[in-house]
Amino acid sequence: MIKEIELHSESDTIALAERVAALMEPGDILCLYGDLGSGKTFFTKALGKALGVTEEIDSPSFVIFKEYLSGKMPLYHLDLYRLKRESELYDLGIFDVLDSGVTAIEWPTLIENNLPYHSLDLHFEFDGTLRRVQIKPSRRMEEHFR
Ligand SMILES: Nc1ncnc2c1ncn2[C@@H]1O[C@H](COP(=O)(O)OP(=O)(O)OP(=O)(O)O)[C@@H](O)[C@H]1O
Ligand SMILES: [Mg+2]
Repeated sequence: MIKEIELHSESDTIALAERVAALMEPGDILCLYGDLGSGKTFFTKALGKALGVTEEIDSPSFVIFKEYLSGKMPLYHLDLYRLKRESELYDLGIFDVLDSGVTAIEWPTLIENNLPYHSLDLHFEFDGTLRRVQIKPSRRMEEHFR
């Protein structure tokens, strides 16, 4: 199933992130799709806040991978826009930590088929007027997004 939600304001995105955060368990992986500026990092910031992260969350576009350990479970934030080869992720040790926290991945296409699990895929869209997100939940999460 796919559920579509309109995000009329930043607070709608924050409310969605809070809903998602409440469902998260260690090992959950969120794939965040969408064009530049569609709201992937904004969503992740709100998710982190809802998980109790106290550090400033900023975009990992240049470093690819950032981790935040101050919340109720680790938050791993990835942005694969500049990733050239999937093997870089092995060098960064990403696959060793996935089980221990929540992982949010911007521009996930390069590794989407090699992830152990997809908890939720979120496709953010912004046509210049309206923001929308299409939510594709895993079986475990389906009941929460009807
Ligand atoms: N409803 C909304 N949800 C999310 N962001 C919004 C919303 N309304 C306005 N914005 C603004 O849109 C911008 C979204 O930028 P953001 O960095 O999250 O995009 P991104 O998808 O991560 O882009 P990139 O691919 O470059 O990493 C932010 O500046 C945010 O303040
Ligand atoms: Mg971003």
